[in-house]
Amino acid sequence: MTDQTNFQRHRRLRSSATMRSLVRETHLSCNDFIYPLFVVAGKGIKKEVPSMPGVFQLSLDQLGSELAELKQLGIGAVMYFGVPEEKDELGKGAYAEDGIVQQAIRFAKAEAPEILAVADTCLCEYTSHGHCGVIHGETVDNDESLTLLAKTAVAQADAGADIIAPSNMMDGFVRVIRQALDEAGHENIPIMSYAVKYASSFYGPFRDAAESTPQFGDRKTYQMDSANRLEALREAASDVEEGADFLIVKPALSYLDIVRDVRNNFNLPVVAYNVSGEYAMVKAAAMNGWIDEKQLVLEKLTSMKRAGADLIITYFAKDAVRWLQES
Ligand code: PBG
Repeated sequence: MTDQTNFQRHRRLRSSATMRSLVRETHLSCNDFIYPLFVVAGKGIKKEVPSMPGVFQLSLDQLGSELAELKQLGIGAVMYFGVPEEKDELGKGAYAEDGIVQQAIRFAKAEAPEILAVADTCLCEYTSHGHCGVIHGETVDNDESLTLLAKTAVAQADAGADIIAPSNMMDGFVRVIRQALDEAGHENIPIMSYAVKYASSFYGPFRDAAESTPQFGDRKTYQMDSANRLEALREAASDVEEGADFLIVKPALSYLDIVRDVRNNFNLPVVAYNVSGEYAMVKAAAMNGWIDEKQLVLEKLTSMKRAGADLIITYFAKDAVRWLQES
């Protein structure tokens, strides 16, 4: 006979669905998600991104129905990326008053003011060379780029952005953007900093969606080395010191250790960016019938929260809310 007192019966708390939900430690809800949108110049455009089934480049006239759907699902925040008609060396479309993201935000705040508009603040979608700043030869100039990023953030806030999310990885960007926002009277607009952003192959499909592949080289002189963990703490610490209000860790899936480190070391809201490549992999496997997409996505998103994320930027936001409603 087994000695029934000699071990613990963990299965007691797994005995039924009700019991399991009673002791569940991590929960997902529609409040956890920020949904990325790609806004493109032109009319009548709803173009699916080949490597991201279910994700579209949308022209402004398509935005109204998209916002109505998000509102109906209870998704409270959208992150805007722009695909401009023209690109140039200095990425003027990023900070032009009528730049594509500024137009989208003005429209969105008139159409659905209750949905928070998060502006991705970067130059790579607007520069002819595809880098996130000003280039000299093949070098991205940190301090010159800062000036343009600050202008971009102010243009976005002037258009009505509720949150500024700088993703460019220049040193000092939070300080410079905070100062520029304050000087322009936007002292109440928070900065959601891409504090910890790795140079990652997981961004491939995004660069199709945003048409922002660098025309030469890579982003390794400004985005982080995926082998580094302590560097993430240094990056986050400087952003906190410079005035960040949220800390993004990006990508999410292969970096959950970093999400946990950031959670344990800082007390700002932590945001995991479930990036394009993480989306594409799941979609590809699901389209082949190799995985159960719904179960896998909910498991993945739950694991990001379990690792310490308060919020998740995800292309799965709409699906996830629908699936949560079903179950
Ligand atoms: C812009 C930016 C990128 C992503 C978000 N903002 C691309 C990059 O750094 O090359 C990637 C998002 C994704 O892959 O979903 N700098």
